[in-house]
Amino acid sequence: MEIVAAADSDERGLTLLRVVGQLQRVIVFLHSFACDRSHLWSTQSSEARQGPVMSDEQITKKDDDVSRYFTSPPAPLVREICEELILSQENLKEVCDVLHEELNKGLGKDTNPEATIKCFPTYVRELPNGKEKGRFLALDLGGTNFRVLLIQLGEKCSMDSRIYAVPQPIMVGPGDGLFDHIAECLASFIKERELGDELLPLGFTFSFPCKQEGLTKARLARWTKGFKCAGVEGRDVVELLKAAIARRGDVKIKICAILNDTTGTLMSCAWKNHNCRIGLIVGTGTNACYMEKLEKVELWDGDLDEPHQVIINTEWGAFGDNGCLDFIRTEYDNNIDCESINPGRQLYEKMISGMYMGEIARQVIIRLVAEGLLFDGKSSEILEEKGSFFTKYISEIESDKPGDYNNCRVILEELGLNSATDTDCANVRHVCECVSRRAAYLAAAGVAVLLNRIGEESVTVAVDGSVYRFHPHFHNLMTEQISHLIKPGMKFGLMLSEDGSGRGAALVAAVASRNSR
Ligand code: GLC
Repeated sequence: MEIVAAADSDERGLTLLRVVGQLQRVIVFLHSFACDRSHLWSTQSSEARQGPVMSDEQITKKDDDVSRYFTSPPAPLVREICEELILSQENLKEVCDVLHEELNKGLGKDTNPEATIKCFPTYVRELPNGKEKGRFLALDLGGTNFRVLLIQLGEKCSMDSRIYAVPQPIMVGPGDGLFDHIAECLASFIKERELGDELLPLGFTFSFPCKQEGLTKARLARWTKGFKCAGVEGRDVVELLKAAIARRGDVKIKICAILNDTTGTLMSCAWKNHNCRIGLIVGTGTNACYMEKLEKVELWDGDLDEPHQVIINTEWGAFGDNGCLDFIRTEYDNNIDCESINPGRQLYEKMISGMYMGEIARQVIIRLVAEGLLFDGKSSEILEEKGSFFTKYISEIESDKPGDYNNCRVILEELGLNSATDTDCANVRHVCECVSRRAAYLAAAGVAVLLNRIGEESVTVAVDGSVYRFHPHFHNLMTEQISHLIKPGMKFGLMLSEDGSGRGAALVAAVASRNSR
C-alpha cells in the first residue's frame, strides 16, 4: 500500500527531537505489543483453538483474568479521583436497558423523528456468499484521511490503495471544496492506474450518519468526528460527488452503493464467516450496525420481498444526547463536549472513541497535577495544550508490562515531563486504564444489547477501528464484559475485520450489481 501525504494532523509541527522520540517509542511499543499478543495466544483454551480452520482473528482471545490489565495506583487519592470513571455492573446493566429502549425508539415509525439513535436502514439486505468476484473501485471517507482503492475479488483477491490527507481547512470548509477534493483524488488515482477505459463499479464508504433512501442515495443527517462542511447536511452525498466529478469532466464512474464503515466491516467479515451479524467500529468514532428482521423495523418503507431483513446502521454514537447517560457522565466528559466542534452531540461516542480518549486522560492528569498528586504539582507547556495527549499514548502506556514504564517515560518526556518518578508513571498508567476500560465496557454494553436483540445462539461480531486494533487489552476487556451482559447460553466472538471500508464497499457493490443483473 502506498501512503502519500498521510501525515496525521495531530502530529504536525513536531520538532525533530520529538520525531526521534516517537521512533524510539514505536520500536519499544511494537516489541511489547508483539510480546503481549503472543502471550495471549499461549493462554487460549483448547476449545478456542479447535474448530474448522479459524483465522487468527476469529479466535476469541478470551482471558478471564482481565484484572491483570488493571494495575493499582500507589496513591489512594489518585484512586479516589479516578473512581468516577469506573462503571459498576449495575451501571452497565442500566446502560444496556436504556440503549435497548433508545434503539426501539429509533426503529419505531412514530418515535423515530424524536429518537437520538436514528437506526437508519441501509438497504443492504443480503450478506455476501463468498463467491463474489470482479474488479471494483472504493472510496473511503470518514477519518483524517481519504482513501481510493482498487479491489479484486474472487479466487485471487488483491487490493491497491492510496491514502490522501484531508487538510483541516477542507474538513470545515464549504461542501463543494470537500467533494472537489475527493473527485480530484479519484481522478488522479484512475489516471495513475490507467483505469480510464474501464467503467468499474464503485462503492463509496461515507462514515457519517446518513438517512438512506436507497442503495445509492444517502442524505447526510449531520456531520460528526471533526467534519463540518457547509451545505452538505440534508443533501444526497452521492449527488454531490457526481456533481463534483461532472465539474471536472475528465473521469467516468458508476456508483453502485453508498455505505457506512460499519456496514463495510460487517460485509467484509460475513464474506467468509456466515455467522456474522454485527459490524462495530471503535476508531476515531464509534458506531455499530446489525442485521435486523424487517418485522422489527417499523420505520422500513422499502419492499417486503425476501429476504425479510435489512442491515440497520444504528448511529449509536449519538446515544445519550437526550441526557439519558448523564448518570455516568463526568466533569471530564462535560469539558470535552463543551470544547468540541459539536457540543451536546455524540455523547456516547465522546466517552468511547479514539478522537476523545486521549483528551479525557489528559484532563484527568491535569487535575491530578493541580491537586499536587502528579509530577510534584508541576505541569508542562505541552501537557497544558488541548489534544497533546494522543489516544495512541494510552495504548502504548498500557503495553508496558505492569511495573515497567518504558513507553510511559518516553511519552512523558515527549510531553516535556522529564523527571517523572515510578509513582508518577504508575498513576498515569492508572488514569489510562480507567479511561480505556470504561470505553471498552461501554462498547461491550452496546454489543451485548445487539446480541440479545438478535437472539441467535452463535454470532460473530466484526470489529475494526484503531482503538480496537491497537489497544493491547481492548479485545479482552470487551469480551469479558459482553459475556457478563448477554443472555445465558449465547456464544459470540469478536473478529477483527480486514479492511471493511475497502473490501466491504466492494462487496456491497458486488451484491448490488448481482441483484440488478
Ligand atoms: C461516527 C459516524 C458514524 C461512523 C463512526 C465510525 O460515529 O457518525 O457514521 O460509523 O463514526 O467511523
